Amino acid sequence: MNNTFKKLGLSVIGIGIAAAVAYAAGVTYDLHKSYAISDTSVNDEVAPTQAQIQHGLYVAHAADCAACHTAQGGKPFAGGYAIGTPFGQIESSNITSDKETGIGNWTLAQFDRAVRHGKGTHGYLYPAMPYTAYSQMTDGDVRDLWAYMRTVAPVENRVIEDKLPFPFNQRWLMGGWNLLFFKPQVFKADPTKSVDYNRGAYLVEGPGHCAACHTGKNFLGGDTADFLQGGSLDGWYAPDITPNPHAGIGTWSEADIAAYLKAGSNDKAVSTGPMTEAVENSTQYLTDADLHAIAVYLKAQTPSTTTAPAAVSADDSAMKLGQRVYESQCIACHVSNGNGVRKMIPPFAGSSIVKASDPATLLHMVLLGSDGPQTETNPTGAGMPRFDWKLSDDEVAAVLTYVRNSWGNAAPPVSQTSAQQARAKLGAQAWIGH
Ligand code: HEC
Ligand code: HEC
Ligand code: HEC
Repeated sequence: MNNTFKKLGLSVIGIGIAAAVAYAAGVTYDLHKSYAISDTSVNDEVAPTQAQIQHGLYVAHAADCAACHTAQGGKPFAGGYAIGTPFGQIESSNITSDKETGIGNWTLAQFDRAVRHGKGTHGYLYPAMPYTAYSQMTDGDVRDLWAYMRTVAPVENRVIEDKLPFPFNQRWLMGGWNLLFFKPQVFKADPTKSVDYNRGAYLVEGPGHCAACHTGKNFLGGDTADFLQGGSLDGWYAPDITPNPHAGIGTWSEADIAAYLKAGSNDKAVSTGPMTEAVENSTQYLTDADLHAIAVYLKAQTPSTTTAPAAVSADDSAMKLGQRVYESQCIACHVSNGNGVRKMIPPFAGSSIVKASDPATLLHMVLLGSDGPQTETNPTGAGMPRFDWKLSDDEVAAVLTYVRNSWGNAAPPVSQTSAQQARAKLGAQAWIGH
């Protein structure tokens, strides 16, 4: 049985188990969970103040609602952004105030049910909508967010959210999934920890939904126990952000973390792909105090236990080919000692992204390039050219093996097969040397 079939087989068995649990307990779940918002000052009758609407916008930024609910080139919050999951494709809903195709007819209670409890127009929502994290949001934040959402201009756009194949298109199964993986609970501060730590915990675990990308997923798409220790996305890898000095951000100071989240770059890294989107749409808008709080919280996590493997020997044939490719194609920007150019071109030496167990982000960058982050603090981010047309699969794999094992780095080699698979998956161009 090859891996894909194995995974699919496991998923189907898993779905079967989830279904059985849902059958046994789904009804109980529905009848006995109270969805009432506990703060009774929060309601639809009282018009929100300007300050509440402003704060709602801040919450929308912190929660990055626009990232998924705005399609490329589409109107803000009008939905239709496609999210690839291991189970198939899901499109985000139209959450503008359009009464027909958006949520213009909703009440605060309905909004709360969707955002914190994962129940929308068609029944259970899929966790591609991060209600599993948003469930931690406070009543006040949800109320103000709703106040802001109601000011969003209506856009008529009918979205068919669910394009999943059977059996994953059976929304009721999510009742079972929720029992297994969803613990609806508003954030509770830990009184033994500092105010900053608790604010950081709230932002990371709640609205910021950092674990949606940075925590690995099990075969049913639920979070593994390895909190913030790295997760594979659709063609990218979100690295370990625990304070592990080899695999994570153990060498970063609190100021380094805050600077990265504000500008998309610091002395140690430049963001790419989904993190650039998170910085551009979300974290750059957070106050310095909130960014500091996130940094305090991340630095206080238990480091993952990943250790460095032995580096691939410089005599290895892939290392030699990789060095030749590096010296002809990459050195002009990434420079000979792999240190890059401060805040513009990320250093390779010591980078946890470069050393990550899963090289998806590296393959993505070399094959397709990237525009680089553009933020208010750093409006002129540099871009990285694409090399799909210029380098063979062999050369792509070799140059990555080389950067992963030079200047003190050590990481498993990248195989030609993974370069070939990434090229196909990402729809990259063929090498012109064929
Ligand atoms: C990571 C992507 C992602 C983010 C971030 C996200 N959403 Fe969603 N959202 C989705 C997807 C996908 C769906 C459709 C899920 C489904 O149909 O099962 C959805 C559905 C919804 C729905 C249900 C609409 C309906 O008609 O049932 C609401 C309301 C909603 N989102 C609001 C929000 C708000 C508010 C935020 C920010 C706090 C947000 N979303 C952030 C992906 C996202
Ligand atoms: C949509 C997915 C996604 C979300 C949400 C997300 N990240 Fe990331 N993050 C990534 C990816 C992918 C990278 C790797 C970027 C790169 O290679 O340049 C990354 C990189 C990082 C890095 C740099 C790590 C390094 O070693 O260079 C930090 C720090 C980070 N994220 C923190 C956060 C925090 C804090 C949050 C929540 C507020 C968050 N991320 C939310 C996907 C995400
Ligand atoms: C014209 C300058 C330029 C050249 C040439 C170039 N790069 Fe880059 N590279 C960049 C920039 C700028 C970034 C940051 C882009 C971003 O953050 O989106 C980057 C980012 C990367 C990353 C992502 C690292 C991370 O921390 O997220 C990898 C991997 C990478 N380059 C590999 C290579 C390889 C391998 C070559 C040669 C085959 C190469 N680059 C050639 C400018 C360049």
